[in-house]
Amino acid sequence: MNLRETLRINERGHLEIGGCDTVELAAKFGTPLYCLDEKHIRDMCRAYRDALAAGYGEAQALYASKALSCKALYKIVHSEGLGADVVSSGELYTALSGGMPADKIYFHGNNKTGQEIVYALNSGVGTIVIDGDDEIDFLSSICEREGKRASVLLRVNPGVEAHTHHYIQTSKVDSKFGLSIKSGDAERGVKNILSRKQLDLKGFHCHIGSQIFELKPFKVAVAIILDFAAEMRRKYGLITRELNLGGGLGIWYAKGDRKTNVKDYKDFVKVICDAVRENCERISLDRPRLLLEPGRSIVGEAGITLYTVGNIKDIKGIRKYVGIDGGMFDNPRYALYQAKYTAILAKRASEQPAEKVSIAGKCCESGDLIAVDVMLPPAKRGDILAVFSTGAYNYSMASNYNRNAVPPVVLCKGGQAEYIVKPQSYEDIARNDTFASWL
Ligand SMILES: Cc1ncc(COP(=O)(O)O)c(C=O)c1O
Repeated sequence: MNLRETLRINERGHLEIGGCDTVELAAKFGTPLYCLDEKHIRDMCRAYRDALAAGYGEAQALYASKALSCKALYKIVHSEGLGADVVSSGELYTALSGGMPADKIYFHGNNKTGQEIVYALNSGVGTIVIDGDDEIDFLSSICEREGKRASVLLRVNPGVEAHTHHYIQTSKVDSKFGLSIKSGDAERGVKNILSRKQLDLKGFHCHIGSQIFELKPFKVAVAIILDFAAEMRRKYGLITRELNLGGGLGIWYAKGDRKTNVKDYKDFVKVICDAVRENCERISLDRPRLLLEPGRSIVGEAGITLYTVGNIKDIKGIRKYVGIDGGMFDNPRYALYQAKYTAILAKRASEQPAEKVSIAGKCCESGDLIAVDVMLPPAKRGDILAVFSTGAYNYSMASNYNRNAVPPVVLCKGGQAEYIVKPQSYEDIARNDTFASWL
């Protein structure tokens, strides 16, 4: 197996992350356990930061909180020069508590509540990304009441939909995110924002999809948005000062995904920078400040999850289930959209996979699976199973389903490992439970 730089198989044949033996991590911290490699996160932050600086200049990388939000992570990404985007008050609170300066935070969301907007305005959040017509009225009335003026971007929908291995250009208006350029909704939004003295329209935002390896859809989206920006300048005198092209570059999860390295991400960024520069020249537009907001590619491959194997159910001729002490409560991605993963046995990391199995979680749901039909060496009760690429959209999507505790997160660096999210106790889980007065 071709492991990322900070993962290796050590002399004992055990999987190591950030210089820490995963078998020892499991023994010390218990399982299920999320492990994050700090060096990988920092390397990825630097890749985006440096490639934007070299390829464009006036640019800023933001970390997409939705991939994994906890205080320590903001401390790391901020120290590497990144800002952050958030989509809820909870993420905003965590980002601020982790030391992310408010003016480097972008607040997204297709239905921000009044309480969230007030919190963002009063915390000094740098930019609010408007996601719809109604929000323009809603936000400007809150600004008026609070005596604030908000810097905003308008989220537009360029009609480019990208998926892992293909993209389509559509005039699809049916999306809960953004205002469609093609339908004229985006233009109506621009006019509406420009008529509000409480709102300062800095430019546009779009996010065309996630887990994308192809570059063409980004280039097409850039051309469409910049043409739209030029039209808005011609018609309304709007100067586009910022262009935020969202996140979306893919990572390796399983066979069939591209095996990438840091340089590949720098190359991706360069292609985007070139596309923005070339289109601005083509239509004689002053170059806006460029923002990207990667999430998955910053933390995804930095993470592995360790489980202990329990019940093994071999249904002869049909399927062998390897039961683990985690499941959809720590990783709901298979249950949500049949995401694929790769797993190995941490203690016998170089042993050749010999049988096809499905990894089953312990929740009371038939769909609670982590991986289906994957190859593993014969596993037995007590083995430590490591699942790769779980740094993004795992801890952040975790729940207490079946009243299982959300696993802790340890940060690994140079052979040291410490909690950055502590274990949840049963008291934590039941903390907000109460009894109605008549019980
Ligand atoms: C608006 C927005 N920005 C950034 C991201 C991060 O994307 P990724 O984690 O694929 O880089 C997402 C993901 O859904 C998003 O919706």
